[in-house]
Amino acid sequence: MAVIAARCPEWRVTVVDNNADRIAAWNADDPSQFPVYEPGLAELVLATRGRNLFFSTDVEAAIAAAGLIFISVNTPTKTYGMGKGMAADLKFIESCARTIAAVAKEDKIIVEKSTVPVRTAATIKEILDHTGSGTNFQVLSNPEFLAEGTAIEDLLHADRILIGGDMKRDAAAVQVLVDIYAHWVPRERILTANVWSSELSKLTANAFLAQRVSSINAMAELCEKTHADVREVARAIGMDSRIGPKFLEVSAGFGGSCFQKDILNLIYIARSYGLSEVAEYWEQVIRLNDHQRARFARKLVAALFNNVADKKIAFLGWAFKKDTNDSRESSAIYIADYLIHERARICAYDPKVTSEQMWTDLNALDSRPAEINAEHLTAAASLDAACTDAHAVALLTDWDQFKEADWRSIYERMVKPAFIFDGRNLLDRSEMEAIGFIYHGTGC
Ligand code: UDX
Repeated sequence: MAVIAARCPEWRVTVVDNNADRIAAWNADDPSQFPVYEPGLAELVLATRGRNLFFSTDVEAAIAAAGLIFISVNTPTKTYGMGKGMAADLKFIESCARTIAAVAKEDKIIVEKSTVPVRTAATIKEILDHTGSGTNFQVLSNPEFLAEGTAIEDLLHADRILIGGDMKRDAAAVQVLVDIYAHWVPRERILTANVWSSELSKLTANAFLAQRVSSINAMAELCEKTHADVREVARAIGMDSRIGPKFLEVSAGFGGSCFQKDILNLIYIARSYGLSEVAEYWEQVIRLNDHQRARFARKLVAALFNNVADKKIAFLGWAFKKDTNDSRESSAIYIADYLIHERARICAYDPKVTSEQMWTDLNALDSRPAEINAEHLTAAASLDAACTDAHAVALLTDWDQFKEADWRSIYERMVKPAFIFDGRNLLDRSEMEAIGFIYHGTGC
């Protein structure tokens, strides 16, 4: 919305949320209080806020005043009932639709921005049409393809914008949305499609991207057995223009709020149509990811003489990738859990994730009482503090500052033999070995 406000000065954009604390944080003078850290976002908000971008808790007034409403609530994996652990939970979408229907007195264009299962637009339309006061609603799908950490850049220089709508019934509404994006996106990159293709394209994009990561992570394990180097393999295959070079970097498993959730959702949809082979095919991407996380932890324990009890292990990074404070589904959480089962003492340093967040993430796994988690996981205020007296470093997030750290002085602070488990292949093996580290890369 900040990008739309910045690029379309004639539109007045109001962001509403029931959560008063979040809205207050977006209205804070100090941008470090904003609820989301995203490079370039604070600048855009500061430039547009109070001009044509507003943050408010008055949901009903904003609905009444708007011609175009983006539903952007979360659609987490269901934690109860039918489809528990797989299906997307649409209760927030439904409550938005009901609120809109109750308030709207004039025609509205409703844009589905949240990631939703295919055919959700029909549900939204049904709720609107049956609970509204006879006004006309047009429901479009406009999935978001931007990635965290590069969200602003991704949107300003979008590969494509996808707008789904019924071209007979919704042509005018589609045109309104096309015109908004056309302020900064070349026309040929604004695609229109039927609503169902648009909804399914979002799940497909995330499934394909996650599949690439699981594919390269699978090859990493094979490389470790055969003395091939996964970086060389990735380079060789990435230069095949049919394959391409992106998303071929190994990790200790992909994280983030989208990949796992959307694939689980895809699997659930496939199963609900009785397509078990399709479901099993995508299931394997998740299984491989779980395996990659467990494998990282097992490798660390094995190298530390099969014993990490009471040993300090430094976690470098908790966020699911660099340049974000988001730790949802981060591999660090699962690896920490595994190592705490082995009674390790983890000291994590992340430039953007707070210790409270780390405990919340770990406690959410429900593996043991929160007091025990708090005993075994501490957060350090600096990279040096995390590594002092540690037996091993687990490098999990690709923050640039980890690459640029003074590894010689870190080595001096650590217990010997000092191990590095580089889950991102961020560091140079020969440099680390020259310092004295026992270095374990991933797939090399
Ligand atoms: C993703 C999609 O990229 C985006 O289009 C969609 O809108 C939301 O989901 P995001 O979750 O922000 O975006 O992160 P992304 O950059 O895709 O990375 C996901 C995970 O995969 C991260 O943990 C990342 O570190 C990992 N990854 C990515 C790898 O392990 N290797 C790679 O080569 C690329």
